[in-house]
Amino acid sequence: MNTTSSERILVLDFGSQYAQLIARRVREQNVYCEIVRHDITPEQIKDHNPSGLILSGGPSSVYEEGSPKCDPGIFDMGLPVLGICYGMQLMCDHLGGKVDSTHVREYGRATCTHSAGDDPFMKGFPETAEVWMSHGDQVQTVSADFVALAKTSTCPVAAIKHKTLPAYGLQFHPEVTHSPEGWMLLKNFLYEICKCSGAWKLANFAQEMIDHVKAQVGDAQVICGLSGGVDSSVVAALLSKAIGSQLSCILVDNGLLRKGEREMVEEQFTDHFKTDLRVVDGRAQFLQQLKGIDDPQEKRRRIGHTFIECFKSESEGIENAKFLAQGTLYPDVIESGAAKDGPAATIKLHHNVGGLPEELGFELIEPLRDLFKDEVRALGVELGLPEHLVWRHPFPGPGLAVRCLGEVVEEKLAVLREADAIVIEEIEKAGLYRKTSQLFAVLLPVQSVGVMGDARTYENALVIRCVNTDDFMTADWSRLPYDVLATMSTRIINEVSGVNRVCYDISSKPPATIEWE
Ligand code: XMP
Repeated sequence: MNTTSSERILVLDFGSQYAQLIARRVREQNVYCEIVRHDITPEQIKDHNPSGLILSGGPSSVYEEGSPKCDPGIFDMGLPVLGICYGMQLMCDHLGGKVDSTHVREYGRATCTHSAGDDPFMKGFPETAEVWMSHGDQVQTVSADFVALAKTSTCPVAAIKHKTLPAYGLQFHPEVTHSPEGWMLLKNFLYEICKCSGAWKLANFAQEMIDHVKAQVGDAQVICGLSGGVDSSVVAALLSKAIGSQLSCILVDNGLLRKGEREMVEEQFTDHFKTDLRVVDGRAQFLQQLKGIDDPQEKRRRIGHTFIECFKSESEGIENAKFLAQGTLYPDVIESGAAKDGPAATIKLHHNVGGLPEELGFELIEPLRDLFKDEVRALGVELGLPEHLVWRHPFPGPGLAVRCLGEVVEEKLAVLREADAIVIEEIEKAGLYRKTSQLFAVLLPVQSVGVMGDARTYENALVIRCVNTDDFMTADWSRLPYDVLATMSTRIINEVSGVNRVCYDISSKPPATIEWE
């Protein structure tokens, strides 16, 4: 997005999985930052009018054929440049330094030492600091134009600066949390080298986005699919502020939503944001499609297909609709290898990107595409969404169907919905909702014998799943207090008929997954 912010840093993306993290660390220092292609030309850079450039890391080797390169002219622009890992190697390759393949790939923690505290770039950085390395190649020697500022036991040039140009390099990754003081170097680069003023705030981002969307859509109508989740709600809130009555939201009630979810969305987007909200009652249609199906992939396929049908027929009635807004976040983009602005390595095929097919014929608006989840949450609060909504745990598109194992029928969904509401209620009462990443109930198609009063029962088993995770790609089961689990179990067995046994899932991901399916 080309916003109107006057002060900004550009990150040239050479395929690093951390490019967006770098951008986010810069924004945390109150400087606007965006990611651009690695082969951006000096003229295009001038259009952005940046205060400095950061060259990201990347999986390639600078001597490899076809490895991503930058336009050498960027070093002649007089702009401060910081090269990180591959970015530093590339800079040295251009400006005079020898890059060698190390015999062993260095991956993990290293201790960095320096005595360059009087250099503005190293100011305040501890003389001995833990840093995170992740590279195959490293800079072995630098020409007389460079000064080595820091080293590790295996890396003679861990930080460098050019003697005459405002060019710096780091072999390690200052942006990751495993380099606990790395932020100081980024801060020094921004404030000491690029002379940024640090006036940018998330509120500016909201306003810039609003201006940008207004200019993009003109007088056309925008459709936004609402799910009750954080991302689509924030998109809808943002668009509602930007274009008001030009926004039409569609909520497909597939009968697979959590208890009270439809009502919550209606309250937010009809009462609070006064949006044109169209609720499609697809409950019967979805159930009909799921009848007799117990294969998880087939369930997903049918749900996806039915969703598109419902969405399509509702959107056809919206006049002058040209745009479709989606709450795609940066991690969705990078995990599905779809990053448009760089050759980022594919990490995982995710479920959210490209949810609605091109055949719908809309132009996509993805205003959150550059943001991380917690930035989206902060933006939601900024836009006036209630805390309980912006802090909601993620909920999968196919909803309760993936948590209702075997055939999905209304009786089972009703049991699951009630049990799910109880576990959420109890975790909130215990003050642990925000300390866990995802909590839900899973209904198993397994019956076992129990005894209730004097009677023998033969009912379903239900599983409580609660995980903690930063990225949802790996996760550990949450060590919930026994008392909280006990209350959940007692309440479910007493209040939800059809369940006589409650289990707690103590598997991590991998090798398990978060959902059961
Ligand atoms: P798994 O089960 O793969 O889930 O460990 C990882 C995260 O992704 C969510 N998930 C989905 N989200 N549509 C979504 O929007 C889906 O089809 C879907 N399947 C899983 C899951 O809830 C967890 O947060």
